[in-house]
Amino acid sequence: MEITVEKSKEELSRLIADEIISLVKTKPSCVLGLATGSSPILVYKYLIEAYKAKKVSFKHVKTFNLDEYINYKEYKDSYHYFMDHNLFDYIDLERNNIHFPNPEKPEEYDKDILKAGIDLQLLGIGADGHIGFNEPNTSFDSITNITTLTKQTIKDNARFFKSIEDVPTHAVTMGLKTILSAKEIILIATGSNKKDAISKLLKGEDISCPASILNRHSNVTLYLDNEAAKDIHQNNN
Ligand code: F6R
Repeated sequence: MEITVEKSKEELSRLIADEIISLVKTKPSCVLGLATGSSPILVYKYLIEAYKAKKVSFKHVKTFNLDEYINYKEYKDSYHYFMDHNLFDYIDLERNNIHFPNPEKPEEYDKDILKAGIDLQLLGIGADGHIGFNEPNTSFDSITNITTLTKQTIKDNARFFKSIEDVPTHAVTMGLKTILSAKEIILIATGSNKKDAISKLLKGEDISCPASILNRHSNVTLYLDNEAAKDIHQNNN
């Protein structure tokens, strides 16, 4: 597993955006796995800037988002909306090439993903070590499924909603096995609330830390700021 540590989220996001842009340039019809949440927002901003500066086109790119809430109150609370407003509305991606898991038939998503083959999967990580919405103790063999959010995740995600009562309690998410099918995986983590999850991930496979499944993959890079990397430095000293 590769680890890149930078001082700021800006620097990390710039590096990740550059990597995505270079993939899209060498393989214009590449398949990207995308995440929502605070972690990738700046990456998306830099992709939009590059598109507007005519440095890259997403015309033939396909995307598969990691997850979507179920029974959200308003469209504004959905991850569809999040992606539209942080990326899709501002680049030339074809609407038909955008994919989200369907809670009515989650397993179809795995079939579609295996057929398309994700070239690069972008991940954030929860404070409890979740990736996608695969919460602690999810089977490492899980495929796209409907899941119940933990209290911690509901609390963490409340900042995106009017009140904590509005945070949906269920979501449909790519499974851990689905995520591992990507050819390359990039995980971004910033801030001290992610340091425990990162240090647990690096201690090896442990079902109580879903992200630790990444130890099984041969092409993973963690992009961390100093705060998220704090404990790994201590472990290495
Ligand atoms: C989002 C997702 C989640 C987030 C994680 C971190 O699509 O799958 O696993 O990546 O909850 O969220 P942020 O980036 O908001 O700290």
